[in-house]
Amino acid sequence: MAAAKVRKAVFPAAGLGTRFLPATKAQPKEMLPLVDKPIIQYGVEEALHSGIRNIIMVTGRGKSAIEDHFDVSFELENLLESRGKTELLKIVRQVSDLIDVSYIRQKEALGLGHAVLRSQDLVGPEPFAVVLADDVIDSETPCIRQLLDIYEFFGAPVLAVMEVPPEAISSYGCIDAEPVAHNGSKGKVFRIRDLVEKPKQNEAPSNLAIIGRYILTPDVFDSISQVEPGSGGEIQLTDSLRHLLRSRPLYAYKFDGKRYDAGDKLGFLKATVEFALQRRDLGGPFREYLKSLAL
Ligand code: UTP
Repeated sequence: MAAAKVRKAVFPAAGLGTRFLPATKAQPKEMLPLVDKPIIQYGVEEALHSGIRNIIMVTGRGKSAIEDHFDVSFELENLLESRGKTELLKIVRQVSDLIDVSYIRQKEALGLGHAVLRSQDLVGPEPFAVVLADDVIDSETPCIRQLLDIYEFFGAPVLAVMEVPPEAISSYGCIDAEPVAHNGSKGKVFRIRDLVEKPKQNEAPSNLAIIGRYILTPDVFDSISQVEPGSGGEIQLTDSLRHLLRSRPLYAYKFDGKRYDAGDKLGFLKATVEFALQRRDLGGPFREYLKSLAL
């Protein structure tokens, strides 16, 4: 039987963003601009280019900034129209015209699992993607599209993973998994044996870190409801997936592409520099400027 189609993507964006204070005191980190677009727009465009246009945002503080960004701005659009700024008008409308966004609030930042659970009524009884927008991924095929291909083949939840240096694994959820041959290659798809959130380096079962892209099935909501708060006193999605593993297989996919942790200052700076260098309008002069610095 064909796997049910994934039509919705949940964007948890209610975290406190403490690593980016004070910039995140009054606005979510998802609204920080990467070159000239808020971080969250990269994730929304990734969903859109993967065939998903139903977007569910789980927001906390700074809700209005995210809502306003994806809403129509009559004042601004009228002004741009009257001044004949058609290119800018196109840019402003580009994404909001193509997506259908709903919002739900997570009143307290009780963890990623809890944030995903808040989306249950809007998701309903169907599979869905989860996008942590502060993980920005640069790839030829959108990362969500890559995961959807694996989901459609195995008919089971799929998490994006990447290899990290051993000393970095304690910052991530980590999987214990066995490689599964798929499409003639081995070492890209894994069947998960176990998952652990932020393991100590010497206790980590692998160097495969879970990053912020998931394809999940609606039974995950039951699992989230049943787990106790874990690492950091938060309801963790990783713990919920561990619970889900008791009742169904889960897969992981080592995606093609480069991931930036834009919720971290250094990661954000790296993404800013590399995205700017790739831009047709900015890349040339920016490269010249970087070369001129006495580094
Ligand atoms: P992070 O682990 O990056 O936490 O959350 P954070 O609170 O946002 O940031 P720091 O570590 O304090 O700087 C991963 C993702 O889960 C969301 C965040 O918005 C981010 O997209 N999240 C986390 C929630 O929506 N609610 C929560 O309670 C926790």
